[in-house]
Amino acid sequence: MASVMQKLITPLASGPTEPPRNKVTIVGVGQVGMACAVSILLRELADELALVDVVEDRLKGEMLDLQHGSLFLKTPKIVADKDYSVTANSRIVVVTAGVRQQEGESRLNLVQRNVNIFKHIIPQIVKYSPDCTLIVVSNPVDVLTYVTWKLSGLPKHRVIGSGTNLDSARFRYIMAEKLGIHSSSFNGYILGEHGDSSVPVWSGANVAGVSLQKLNPDIGTDKDSENWKEAHKMVVDSAYEVIKLKGYTNWAIGLSVADLTETLVKNLNRVHPVSTMVKGMYGIGEEVYLSLPCVLNSSGVGSVINMTLNDEEIAQLKKSADTLWGIQKDLKDL
Ligand SMILES: *[C@@H]1O[C@H](CO)[C@@H](O)[C@H](O)[C@H]1NC(C)=O
Ligand SMILES: *[C@@H]1O[C@H](CO)[C@@H](O)[C@H](O)[C@H]1NC(C)=O
Repeated sequence: MASVMQKLITPLASGPTEPPRNKVTIVGVGQVGMACAVSILLRELADELALVDVVEDRLKGEMLDLQHGSLFLKTPKIVADKDYSVTANSRIVVVTAGVRQQEGESRLNLVQRNVNIFKHIIPQIVKYSPDCTLIVVSNPVDVLTYVTWKLSGLPKHRVIGSGTNLDSARFRYIMAEKLGIHSSSFNGYILGEHGDSSVPVWSGANVAGVSLQKLNPDIGTDKDSENWKEAHKMVVDSAYEVIKLKGYTNWAIGLSVADLTETLVKNLNRVHPVSTMVKGMYGIGEEVYLSLPCVLNSSGVGSVINMTLNDEEIAQLKKSADTLWGIQKDLKDL
């Protein structure tokens, strides 16, 4: 007696099932990881999504919850496991795992604790997806991107830190809001170290090619009577403000990671400010990751735009590089 399935469906194609073409893995299913997952799903970038975490109940719960939304998605396969074999054949792997800074903990101590966690994660990822591009989101992102690069053994163009991609998005939003236009029409970059020491490049800020610095030569400086500098301060403070209000930030970082994923998966060659290995650029002599405008394509970081920075901006980049190296040089087991 034929089953309902046999009566209903006549198979035509045969042969082995093909591996996924645009599989994305998210490591860490906290608020940030899940915001990345949902943003990537809604933008229809992946034909398979894999989630990995050490907290099994939460992991399974998140997987089921997303699977129950399948009717409204175009990603036919959503999988999750604590075993990294579930991530095999990923094209993009987003790393959001890691521990947060505890009260009174030094930055070095925090980084070392994350190194110890990444030592388990990164080799497993590369074992199952040797051709993937890694996007590191965990903080402190610039140091952890370096750590990931070291642990992965991948070429530098395939290990990217989310870096100042979000800082720049916040800057563009705040500036555009002041001018009454959409964020996408305000062009400007925040580069260097993600967070407090980030560098706003005022010389490049423009709308429709009109340089704001040409209109106000003091823009971004302490001499500026209009105090545009405040916009950068608001960017730096905004993460703290959101954390104070809701406990964490997740939506904007998730959306920004999906934007990077789109460029990588679709080979768009768009320019994004992301953390890349900057040794040899702007007189930086050490192996550190800092954000510069990078042309991303399916190879990862295809190239880096050589910005025309002023002496002060270059000095700030070098200072960040020194600070980061100061931490990295003391890390154990890399
Ligand atoms: C990405 O860009 C780099 C630099 O232009 C180029 O060498 C590489 O072939 C590009 N990759 C792809 C897949 O197009
Ligand atoms: C980048 O541009 C600066 C001037 O803006 C120049 O001094 C430097 O040599 C350039 N670097 C490369 C690698 O071309």
